[in-house]
Amino acid sequence: MLISFEGIDGAGKSTQARKLKEYLEERGLDAVLLREPGGTSLGEAVRDLLLREEPLPLTELLLFEAARSELVGRLIRPLLDEGKVVILDRFTDSTLAYQSYGRGLDANLVEELNRTAAQGLVPKLTILIDLEPHIALSRKRDKNRFENADFIRKVREGFLEIARKEMERFYIIDGNRPPSAVFEEVKKAVEEKLWELRKL
Ligand code: TYD
Repeated sequence: MLISFEGIDGAGKSTQARKLKEYLEERGLDAVLLREPGGTSLGEAVRDLLLREEPLPLTELLLFEAARSELVGRLIRPLLDEGKVVILDRFTDSTLAYQSYGRGLDANLVEELNRTAAQGLVPKLTILIDLEPHIALSRKRDKNRFENADFIRKVREGFLEIARKEMERFYIIDGNRPPSAVFEEVKKAVEEKLWELRKL
């Protein structure tokens, strides 16, 4: 079972992803939490590069996909084969939202590279934590180069549009609430999905 968390910077994804891992473990499930970009040594090196350098949009896209190819091939795929629950702090939807809706790269190209790097893996559930960009950005102390208001506004619209197109996979949560209230919704989303999968 693959579950991804998506949303703009400062939406609170990482906190919720951590809470979900703990919650699933308390219930006796074997859950692994991974982040993108990162998760492998090459992926973490690419992450540093991406945050430090100012690559051209296409270069940026290829670097995210390179990190993803490592993460999927070396960790996600084997972990899923072992029957683990894999929780991802960002996945392919981030690339479509940031590099296509945000940077303006061709959506078909991004989708094709996403599919290839992810080996066709699609999360069973994607939790989108949605939040007004100005609230999300005001939560962040050290802003990275992705975190400027105009860009993030386009990214947020991108996430919402992707979610509208793939309603059966997405669960949208209003992130403008205390973490504990957001987590109640996360649990609800996961329980509903597990229930639905059991019926199949
Ligand atoms: P993230 O780990 O969410 O940032 P932080 O740890 O600083 O909160 O991700 C780093 C940045 O990379 C983030 O601003 C979003 C961006 N990103 C993309 O542009 N495309 C992608 O495919 C991914 C996975 C992330």
